[in-house]
Amino acid sequence: MTTPSDVRDSAPAASGALRVDGGRLWRSLMELAEIGATPKGGVRRLALTDLDRQGRDLVVGWLRDAGANTEIDGAGNIFAIRPGREPAARVVLTGSHIDTQPSGGKFDGNYGVLAGLEVLRTLNDAKIATDKPVGVAIWTNEEGSRFVPVMGGSGAFAGVFTLEHLLQQRDIDGVSFGDALRRIGYAGGTPVGGRALDAYFEAHIEQGPVLEREDKIVGVVTGALGLRWYDCVWTGQDAHAGPTPMEARHDALRGASRFVEAINALALRHEPDGRATVGSMQVSPNSRNVIPGLVKMTVDMRHPDDKDLAIMDGELRDAAAAIASDLRLECDLQQVDHFPASRFDPSCVDAVRTATRTLGLSHREMVSGAGHDAIYVARVAPTSMIFVPCKDGISHNEIEDARPEHLEAGANVLLHAMLARAGA
Ligand code: GLV
Ligand code: MN
Ligand code: MN
Repeated sequence: MTTPSDVRDSAPAASGALRVDGGRLWRSLMELAEIGATPKGGVRRLALTDLDRQGRDLVVGWLRDAGANTEIDGAGNIFAIRPGREPAARVVLTGSHIDTQPSGGKFDGNYGVLAGLEVLRTLNDAKIATDKPVGVAIWTNEEGSRFVPVMGGSGAFAGVFTLEHLLQQRDIDGVSFGDALRRIGYAGGTPVGGRALDAYFEAHIEQGPVLEREDKIVGVVTGALGLRWYDCVWTGQDAHAGPTPMEARHDALRGASRFVEAINALALRHEPDGRATVGSMQVSPNSRNVIPGLVKMTVDMRHPDDKDLAIMDGELRDAAAAIASDLRLECDLQQVDHFPASRFDPSCVDAVRTATRTLGLSHREMVSGAGHDAIYVARVAPTSMIFVPCKDGISHNEIEDARPEHLEAGANVLLHAMLARAGA
């Protein structure tokens, strides 16, 4: 496999010798990963918790040390801007998120933020002044695991929903987004959105197996799958597990179980691009000798084509209705989040492609299967993404891993894509 040092030797002189410090990037990643570190080597740093505040404080300190001016908006999004020679020019922004899944890894999101920090540090070391300002954003609650909507901070920034809507959302314990944000001291005074960007680039681990399987270092990301999220409640009747004959039951868990199978069968009918997942289920009363009267579950469906995703939505609703009728249950299925399939800006995709080629890195074009802040930022600014491989394609897992030389290579692509846009 090509390493960044191989690349350095083979890169044409005209590309400019500027490279990030991969060791420094890795050390920052490992230091941030200590905040919320789990025994299996992952990170649990849910949005707007004390650990999120500690992570933010650490990274904001690093960004300020790198000479950036920081601002925080009303959604808790952080913008760290390194001024350019043209004060009125629009900022060339990068960034990602530092909230994690409940059993998340060290790299999802964190890599994009710290690759941005590494770009600023590299420009400082080389005493490079850019024409346009360059900046790093830390978006709030990208993961959507504590608060729906997913990509909350970037969605509010892009005007996909209002700030008021976001602040009202509640976690599973009933705590509102707004209260949690104020409690950690990150409810900023800068208005949300309305910031004109020249471009937005986001570096991220792929979170799937394609780059590793094909032995490619960089994914030039051209767009992302559309997504629909649902909350589903199955209602039957609690009853005694012994005296109640099988035919007399209203077993909500039976409905939910059949639905899980139907959802997987549905996604298989839409292979290879359709995806559907039940990732969370609460059984009530959750007692071994009570027939469950209530089950709450989530559904996550994705497809690169909105027409197909709409067909999957219809099939999902039909399956729920058929199972409910067959098992004499009630099923309440509500769509709670949705974004359509996206296509990134051709000029930004080209900036990533050109940087990758100039650096001599092996690459392929790809569509993101995961949600990213870039998907919402793309609605208000020219945007694209850079993917690097992760071990065995595993993410949203404590064992998530990535090779330092790949992370370094992706950060070099980010550096050169941003420089091409910002002018130096
Ligand atoms: C975000 O991590 C998503 O794709 O669900
Ligand atoms: Mn992410
Ligand atoms: Mn994630």
